[in-house]
Amino acid sequence: MALTEKDIRIVQESLPAIRAHLEPASMKFYENLFKIAPELRPLFREDLAGQGMKFFSTLNTVFDMLHEPKTADAEMSDLAGSHATLGVKASHFAPMREALRVTLEETLGADFTPEMSEAWLKAYDEVADGMIARAHLR
Ligand code: HEM
Repeated sequence: MALTEKDIRIVQESLPAIRAHLEPASMKFYENLFKIAPELRPLFREDLAGQGMKFFSTLNTVFDMLHEPKTADAEMSDLAGSHATLGVKASHFAPMREALRVTLEETLGADFTPEMSEAWLKAYDEVADGMIARAHLR
């Protein structure tokens, strides 16, 4: 389903609340990801706390792309390229998506409304699909 203006507004408006909860949730995200897909652990460096892909930066990246569509294309191409080099496969995006959903649900509880969930997952899909297409990930 395509991302609507309303979805973008929901994601943007919910960002401050999510940001406030997020720093402590950053490790939780990796715990959830490796519970769902333990085979992804070797792709990431040993010391997760100091690593580049914090859960937070992922969300910020998604947010920035929605906020400034003009930079989205170049940004997505760069991200796609770096992920291809890292050995990321198209099939890895589904467990990542699930970890994102579970972490937001656990972190925000009832504040993570079904409407927010739908908008965030659509935003994730938009970026994920863009990355997969641009780097021809398989
Ligand atoms: C919408 C989806 C995703 C976004 C927005 C995203 C974003 C990012 C960002 C911003 C970085 C920091 C380095 C850079 O700028 O290139 C990064 C690194 C990384 N990402 Fe992603 N990513 C996504 C999906 C995935 C998936 C599905 C995987 C596969 C498991 C993955 C694995 C990694 C790894 C292994 C790193 C390097 C971490 C390290 O240095 O240990 N990413 N990602």
